[in-house]
Amino acid sequence: MNTADPIGFFDSGVGGLSVWCAVTRLLPHESTVYFSDSANCPYGDKPVERIRDLSRGHVRRLLEAGCKLVVVACNTATAAAVDALRAEWPEVPFVGMEPAVKPAALRSQSHVVGVLATEGTFHGRLYRETCARCAKGTTVLMCVADDFVRLVERGDLDSSAAERAVRARVEPLLAAGADHLVLGCTHFPFLKPLIEKVAAGRAAVIEPSEAVARQVKRVLSARGLLAPVTQAAEHVFETSGDEKRFRSFLAQLKIPSCG
Ligand code: DGL
Repeated sequence: MNTADPIGFFDSGVGGLSVWCAVTRLLPHESTVYFSDSANCPYGDKPVERIRDLSRGHVRRLLEAGCKLVVVACNTATAAAVDALRAEWPEVPFVGMEPAVKPAALRSQSHVVGVLATEGTFHGRLYRETCARCAKGTTVLMCVADDFVRLVERGDLDSSAAERAVRARVEPLLAAGADHLVLGCTHFPFLKPLIEKVAAGRAAVIEPSEAVARQVKRVLSARGLLAPVTQAAEHVFETSGDEKRFRSFLAQLKIPSCG
């Protein structure tokens, strides 16, 4: 593994691009390879074994592309597979997702927080342990919002239908007293403007992509693997799904895509 090697990312679809954006903002000299498994999206309601198998395939692909670190840019895949990936490739640094329950619980005045995520994430060990460790004395409300994943995959981030879908999920959490909403799925930050509009004045919206980017930096730095500041970053994007739709999502985000 060399400092000039790329950082690899994978997600069930375009959601992990929210993490990619945070990482490349913090580490502008790092090259990247992003794999979007949109052909198999969503992961949220798939059996754990299936998600593990898919994740193993994505890691193999990213390692063949020479990646020096793999970001599991998907909460559901982190919940289902990150332990197995670390066991299979002990020499590879992995950074996974963790729902930001801790900062939400610490900041909450009402001691009620709402978490929006997939079913798979809520079933994971990491989520249960984080709640038990970090949210003592706080009521954590869980909301499965699989329909948000479909909206984002379609690139529908601001239509009136998207707003209705967001309202339907968020209003009950606000009515139950949540003053912080945690985005526990990497697709959801793309709906953050809508979620903030619905929650305005009632709840703050928290998501962990910047914390994950800082963790990537820490891990690379600890291994002496940060890219030289003279490096011109190159970014490669690949998808198992509809190439045209994927490229148009990148264009919507103003991500200059190569590869
Ligand atoms: N982006 C994903 C996550 O963070 C998964 C969405 C899905 O495929 O269900 O959980």
